[in-house]
Amino acid sequence: MNIRPDDRKPVIAILTTRDKFREFRGNHKNFRDIIRTGKELGYLVYVITVKELRLGNHYVNGYVPGPGKSWISVQLPPPEVVYNRIPTREDEAKPAVARKLAECLEYPGIRLYNPYFFNKWSLFEWLRGSNATARHVPATRRLRSARTLAAMLKTHTSLYLKPETGKAGKGIMRVIYHAGGELPYRLQIQSGKKNVTYKAATVERLWSRIGKERGDSRYIVQQAIELATCKGRPFDLRVLVQKNGKGGWSMTGIGARLAGSRSITTHVPRGGSVEEPSSMLEAMFGPERSLSILKSVSGTALLIARQIERASGYMLGEMSMDLGVDEKGGLWFFEANSRPMKFDEPDIRRLSLERIIQYSQHLYRQIAIFPQRM
Ligand SMILES: Nc1ncnc2c1ncn2[C@@H]1O[C@H](COP(=O)(O)OP(=O)(O)O)[C@@H](O)[C@H]1O
Ligand SMILES: [Mg+2]
Repeated sequence: MNIRPDDRKPVIAILTTRDKFREFRGNHKNFRDIIRTGKELGYLVYVITVKELRLGNHYVNGYVPGPGKSWISVQLPPPEVVYNRIPTREDEAKPAVARKLAECLEYPGIRLYNPYFFNKWSLFEWLRGSNATARHVPATRRLRSARTLAAMLKTHTSLYLKPETGKAGKGIMRVIYHAGGELPYRLQIQSGKKNVTYKAATVERLWSRIGKERGDSRYIVQQAIELATCKGRPFDLRVLVQKNGKGGWSMTGIGARLAGSRSITTHVPRGGSVEEPSSMLEAMFGPERSLSILKSVSGTALLIARQIERASGYMLGEMSMDLGVDEKGGLWFFEANSRPMKFDEPDIRRLSLERIIQYSQHLYRQIAIFPQRM
């Protein structure tokens, strides 16, 4: 019996950039895990840098794991699926990198998996575009003037200020308005695992203090959600959604992060801890409600992923999401990341690696069915 062309296993390359001090950038351990999973499932997977990915060549120079932590550069067949793991926005914005990504999108023999980073502001615009997702989006505006800040403070007594291209809590601030007293405006600035608070008498004063912190970075300002708590600390949910072997969005796993005692975010490097979502939710809502909340987290995250994909106009393969649960069990979208970090939960981790390979197979089938680009 003949093997149909779409049943062949594609060659998969993990795309990253070069580095001055080692072979390439990115999370080497993650890359090893992906390569190992590919091998177990019978796929050739290797790492390639933007520079070495020459389209149309019969061979390319890629990297495969060597003994210990080493990597070996070898000649390999060119990739049919390219899994984009360029680690930073700065790298991805470089002209040579942007050009190569655009070429990959055009090139008929390659499917590019995860073309771009998201911008926080675009995400909110996209999600407001559909009623089903708009109800999970906190009130959000671009932070460009003291007027916007004053307007937001009229309707919300607490706000989050976040850089549009931020990650891991960097640059996040919180504003709280306490009626009465001479210094009613509080500005909390995250610094390491702690936060420092400034007090101001007027919105103008507050604005100038924010300006000092913000520098030239673009920010959004967002209604603060009163998060559900466990042991007196707020927690939120980290969700991983990925496309499966059939090309449909599916839920890979839900994790929870409990905020550190003196942090305004739940990030682990800022004192937060990895927790079991059901035990977090049960503490607040009891076992029955928490089960139904978890179900709605799955449904909502999939709705959000589909809307992001539709509105962005890019074909996406995976994303992680930060979702907040309020004290009534309502779900709120904080952000999505198109280059998800590793989940430490072993079950989520294993499934996430398998899905990368399975979705690559799906992408490859699309080449066989639609040799010209869709
Ligand atoms: N509007 C908000 N209300 C309440 N908590 C928030 C809000 N926005 C962010 N947070 C908290 O801060 C964390 C980090 O925010 P996020 O938008 O994910 O930024 P980052 O890209 O730095 O991770 C969230 O996981 C959540 O704990
Ligand atoms: Mg986040």
